Amino acid sequence: MWKKIAIVSFALWIASVGFVVYKIQYGNAVKVDKRMEIRLFPEERELILGEMRSLLVGLKGIIQGLSTDDFERVKESAIGNGMGMAQDVNPALIAKLPMSFKAMGMGVHKSFDELAAKIPGATSKEILKEVDVIMSSCVACHSAFKITEKLK
Ligand code: HEC
Repeated sequence: MWKKIAIVSFALWIASVGFVVYKIQYGNAVKVDKRMEIRLFPEERELILGEMRSLLVGLKGIIQGLSTDDFERVKESAIGNGMGMAQDVNPALIAKLPMSFKAMGMGVHKSFDELAAKIPGATSKEILKEVDVIMSSCVACHSAFKITEKLK
């Protein structure tokens, strides 16, 4: 009798640990076609997509600044795309995102802060080179994930 209870408790324990590990690794993501689909509530999806649109605005700011040698504008735009942007994401939403998604996302924000720190000092060409490297992460993440809405 006790042996059975011990075995069942052990199995349950393994299952719960497995579930927690899976959730930490993959969050709410499911593999669909070539991309992993992350299912989020509409307002959570909007928050992430809103952040994406701001990243695009920031990139435009950097390019515009470079085209007019306005390095202050380049710096401001890079800072705008930095870690500060990720601060309003709540823990519940963070838990739904796969590890690799968070790593790439944080990597991009951090790289923009590092870029900002080099201005003034870096030449336009050096800045463009860094932006090109950062944009590899935009491209890589877009080919790996999509975000859909789940209603309940
Ligand atoms: C950590 C992953 C990740 C990174 C890094 C990332 N994106 Fe995205 N982005 C996504 C996903 C996922 C979507 C939604 C795509 C879908 O559902 O088809 C998206 C959507 C977008 C959209 C569309 C927004 C909308 O309203 O539909 C824009 C614009 C965008 N990203 C810009 C960027 C730019 C610019 C960068 C780099 C500076 C970037 N993203 C980096 C994951 C990422």
